[in-house]
Amino acid sequence: MQSSASLQIVADWITNCRKIAVLTGAGISAESGVPTFRSSQPRISQSDRGEGASENSPTPLWEKYDPSELACAQGFLKHPELVWQWYDWRRRLVEGVEPNAGHLALAQIEKLIAPRPVTIITQNVDRLHHRAGSQNILELHGNIISFRCFDHGHQASEVPYNLLEPPLCNPPHCNSKLRPNVVWFGESLDPTTLEASMKAARQCDLFIVIGTSALVQPAISLPYVAEGNGAKLVEINIERTPLSDHVDVFLSGKSGTVLPSIVDLAKAHGGAL
Ligand code: APR
Repeated sequence: MQSSASLQIVADWITNCRKIAVLTGAGISAESGVPTFRSSQPRISQSDRGEGASENSPTPLWEKYDPSELACAQGFLKHPELVWQWYDWRRRLVEGVEPNAGHLALAQIEKLIAPRPVTIITQNVDRLHHRAGSQNILELHGNIISFRCFDHGHQASEVPYNLLEPPLCNPPHCNSKLRPNVVWFGESLDPTTLEASMKAARQCDLFIVIGTSALVQPAISLPYVAEGNGAKLVEINIERTPLSDHVDVFLSGKSGTVLPSIVDLAKAHGGAL
């Protein structure tokens, strides 16, 4: 755990900055019970397996695959039922958990420094920042709560749970299979979202990176863009990453502990909540 002096420095920067950009990864949702990307896949609880499952029920098929084989267009075309059921399970998982103290602290920071802006740029697809109350969120990798059709991108609403295969896009549209509104491996990010993220990185004077292994482009170029434009860089993670040697302050620890401590210090410094 870092010194309280480092926490105080970051709290002071938050209190005095003009604009904050935050890049989050799977680590910020770990304390809500959402598995991180590069941790081993968790065993699935019996309740997640559905009624009638016993301890001896077979392991779900998707556990036998590397996620990168399923989270791609080729995986969906090859195994549409399997990919659909995997995302259905993940959608039920993220909707069944709650934002944690880290998500809530970021929403508090937004209120604390208003009307100065905080932009949350997230690689997460779980919508937990929205549910925590953050207002200005850019979902770099989309989300698993909404859907569009594979062939034409028609948006779909009210997609039922527990379907064994992807439903079809409704007539008068096209009858193509629905897929989650995520950015799969090999796909480009939404250019509007990416440009808005770049702009937030260019314009902020404080950039905070939380709970990401800092391995995936283009997300991880954002702190370097911010640094190149004079922003201070802060990283919060339980372990060091390839970014750690470049940041001004590395705060070691769980985001659900570190972020509330920073908020407490920033409030004591005179912020109004
Ligand atoms: N607090 C802070 N950091 C944490 C915590 C926690 N409680 N728990 C885990 N971490 C850190 C880990 O140390 C690791 O550095 O979170 C990071 C999670 O890394 P990944 O699993 O690689 O997730 P992420 O960086 O979000 O992955 C980026 O890769 O495959 C793609 O599209 C996928 O969005 C994903 C992207």
